[in-house]
This record gives sequence, C-alpha cells and structure tokens, in this order.
Amino acid sequence: MAGRLRNKVALVFGAGSIGPGWGNGKATAVLYAREGARLAIVDSNPSAVEETAGLIRSEGGDCLTLVADVTNARQVETAVDATVHHFQRIDILHNNVGFASLGGPVELSEEVWDKAIDLNLKSMFLTCKYVLPVMVRQGAGAIVNISSISSLSWLGSSYVSYAAAKAGVNQLSRAIAMEYARKGIRCNVVLPGFMHTPTAHAVFNSQFTNSAELIRKRNELCPTGQMGDAWDVAHASLFLASDEAKYVNGVLLPVDGGFTCQAVSPTV
Ligand SMILES: NC(=O)c1ccc[n+]([C@@H]2O[C@H](COP(=O)([O-])OP(=O)(O)OC[C@H]3O[C@@H](n4cnc5c(N)ncnc54)[C@H](O)[C@@H]3O)[C@@H](O)[C@H]2O)c1
Repeated sequence: MAGRLRNKVALVFGAGSIGPGWGNGKATAVLYAREGARLAIVDSNPSAVEETAGLIRSEGGDCLTLVADVTNARQVETAVDATVHHFQRIDILHNNVGFASLGGPVELSEEVWDKAIDLNLKSMFLTCKYVLPVMVRQGAGAIVNISSISSLSWLGSSYVSYAAAKAGVNQLSRAIAMEYARKGIRCNVVLPGFMHTPTAHAVFNSQFTNSAELIRKRNELCPTGQMGDAWDVAHASLFLASDEAKYVNGVLLPVDGGFTCQAVSPTV
C-alpha cells in the first residue's frame, strides 16, 4: 500500500461491478483500499459487494460490507449510521451508482424518466444528506461524485434522462462545494467518457446489433484512439479523494482522453 489514503475511512456506494471484470465502483474501492483507506462498501447486489470485499481482504485491506438501495432514504441513512458506528468517522464519500436508459423525450416513459432521476441524481442527494452532518462534525471530508461526459455533450445516442440527471449531479456537487467549503469539506466530480467496463459492454450487447463494430468505432472516435477503463476513473477519484487535492473543490474532471476538447463531438 502506498498510503495516499492512510488513516481515512471511505464510504463507497455502488462498490460492486455490474458484470465480470472491472467496473468503476469495484476498481475505485480496491484502489482506495490499496492506498490505505478503511472502507465501508455498499451495493444493492449482495454478491457484487462481497466479491469486492473478497478482493480487498485478500490484499490485506479492511472493509465493512453493507447492502442498500441508494434510492431509498431509510436504507442510505442506515448504511451511513452503520459506517459511523463501525469506524466512528467518514472522511471520503464516493458516489458511483448510475445507469443510462436509452431514449429521447418522446419515446421514454414517465416511469423510466423518474427511475433514472432517482437512481442517478436523487441517490447522490440522499447520500450527501446523511453524510454531510458527519463531515461537518469532523470539520473535514471529501466527496467524489461520478457523473459522465453525457452531462456536457451529445454523444450520438439519446440518453436524455441520464444526461439530464448527470447534469444535475454536476451542479448538485458544485453547490455543495460552495456551501461547505468553509466547513472543511470538498466536493468534486469525475466525468468518465467512453470506457471499457462491464456496464458499457452489457449496453453495447443489449442495445446494438453489431457491438464489436460499435467498440471499434468508439475507440476510433477517442482522441487517443482508445476508450479508457475503470482504473482511469479510479485513479482520478483517488486524487480528488486524497489530501493531495486539498485545494481542489467544485471541479468537473473529465476522464475521457480529451474527448470533450474536440470542437465538434463526433458521434456514433
Ligand atoms: N461504464 C461506463 O462506460 C461509464 C461511462 C460514463 C459514466 N459512467 C458512470 O460510472 C458509474 C458506474 O460505473 P460502471 O458503469 O462501471 O458500473 P459498476 O460496474 O461500477 O457498477 C455499479 C454498481 O452499482 C450497483 N447498483 C446499481 N443500482 C444500485 C442501487 N439502486 N443501489 C445501490 N447500488 C446499486 C450495481 O449493483 C453495481 O455493482 C455510474 O455513475 C455511471 O453513470 C460509466
């Protein structure tokens, strides 16, 4: 362990992985543990959170596993209370949960819209609602919220509920950053771009007929010629969560190989 998070307690929501391989939440939880944090890891899927816990413990890390649905206020509050009861503090809140539902404003049902806003945006309001008082009592804390470059740019397919919810995550985070800066709390946002993750591959396979061709095109559209992966998100999050970023607050950090620098976003 290199110790960049030594003596810190991190609470990670969505610490499992949607499928085999490395998703953003699993990679981040494992990296935080490698850097010396003690973790409370939360997921709605018990076997996913236990898989991450197994990896952390096999490397000598310390973690508490919790099962909760981030859209349920009572369950979020219980997870936060359990973390404080176990570790007595929360230095880092990492909000990873999010998912994109395909559809524009006409074809999307009201029910799917509401679910997307709950999963992607209300979830982060709820976790902040219950963790911020803990951080205020401590006089310190760092929040890392996972958004998406979909919150800034049109990427060629209509994910209108996801784009709107993630734009909400950006501004929720910036407002928290301003409101709590003088209380020693920072709040920053990571915006992943096109990534090789189990989620992305599941979406490609379910929603597009030629997923191999889509992956080739997506790699081609990235300025680097390659999509990123979960470790890119994890390393950016690690910096923002650590004291190295003590003067970094209210930032929207794209982790996209420069995709959002392009004057005109190419689309797939
Ligand atoms: N994967 C990508 O290509 C990509 C691109 C841009 C942004 N993102 C963002 O990254 C984050 C997720 O990363 P990922 O796609 O690698 O997924 P992931 O593999 O990290 O899995 C997310 C975890 O969240 C859990 N989860 C789902 N609903 C939940 C709920 N209601 N309560 C608690 N836990 C729940 C799942 O069980 C899963 O273990 C999301 O915020 C997503 O919007 C991902």
